[in-house]
Amino acid sequence: MTRAMQAYATEFQGKKVFITGGSRGIGAATAQRLLDGGATVVVTARTRHAQTPAGATFIEGDISTPTGAHAVATDALRLLGGLDILVNNAGAAAPKLQGLESITDTEWLDALMINFMSAVRVTNPLLPALRASGSGAIVNVSAGGLLPFYGFLAQYGAAKAALNSYTRSLAKELAPAGIRVNLVTPGSITTPGADEGRKLLTAGLGIAPEHLLGGIPLGRHGTAEELAETIAFLVSDRAAYITGHNQFISGGFGEIA
Ligand SMILES: NC(=O)c1ccc[n+]([C@@H]2O[C@H](COP(=O)([O-])OP(=O)(O)OC[C@H]3O[C@@H](n4cnc5c(N)ncnc54)[C@H](OP(=O)(O)O)[C@@H]3O)[C@@H](O)[C@H]2O)c1
Repeated sequence: MTRAMQAYATEFQGKKVFITGGSRGIGAATAQRLLDGGATVVVTARTRHAQTPAGATFIEGDISTPTGAHAVATDALRLLGGLDILVNNAGAAAPKLQGLESITDTEWLDALMINFMSAVRVTNPLLPALRASGSGAIVNVSAGGLLPFYGFLAQYGAAKAALNSYTRSLAKELAPAGIRVNLVTPGSITTPGADEGRKLLTAGLGIAPEHLLGGIPLGRHGTAEELAETIAFLVSDRAAYITGHNQFISGGFGEIA
């Protein structure tokens, strides 16, 4: 084994990790990447999928409610016996093809609950354990940063904007405790959830799937593994001097186009 391979396989040894939405897509790829680096990983979602990493402990739960979020967070802590790394990855986008005015109050609130409040509610009960870790790290998975969203995803964009603001407040408050808090902003990534969303969108708008590649300078969708690699970097000691940062992984979308 080369030194680089050895470092890859041992970098997260002894680290206790909790990932929301770790049953598939970006969350599952991140769980697998940290498992490959030697971490102990607990993941949560409403349903276990074929993609859910076998090496992770799975907790079933719905984190869009206060009681659901609190239950999975305390369960994860009990199973891990401490916490070093938290990835608030769970999120969901439900396109409303009729535009902004058609988004109901309930839909605005639902978007906030799963894309924003779930992170607040999961993080709060875990903060004492992250403080005790000595090298705690959080990554929150956003979308689009503060970019304007098309009307069909405005509720999702607004909820993620709240997540961005919350993340930076958290980074500032937790810095003296040595806990680093960063954001990642995926562009268009191939995952089960996003693939379903893109199908709905292209069918509803009557456009070809290739049309969606138009605004991406690198001309392709990203992979969940590309996201996982960046998240792994941000929670690792290699990023020890990075906090409050928003890292786009978007093929240039939102940055140069
Ligand atoms: N893929 C992209 O192009 C893209 C772009 C920008 C941002 N993002 C963000 O990246 C993150 C991961 O997305 P993804 O593309 O990997 O989506 P995905 O394939 O749909 O995975 C989402 C994960 O979140 C879980 N989840 C959803 N609602 C939940 C709830 N109420 N309680 C507990 N778990 C829940 C899902 O499991 P269950 O459904 O079984 O609960 C699943 O494990 C999300 O925050 C998303 O907003 C993705």
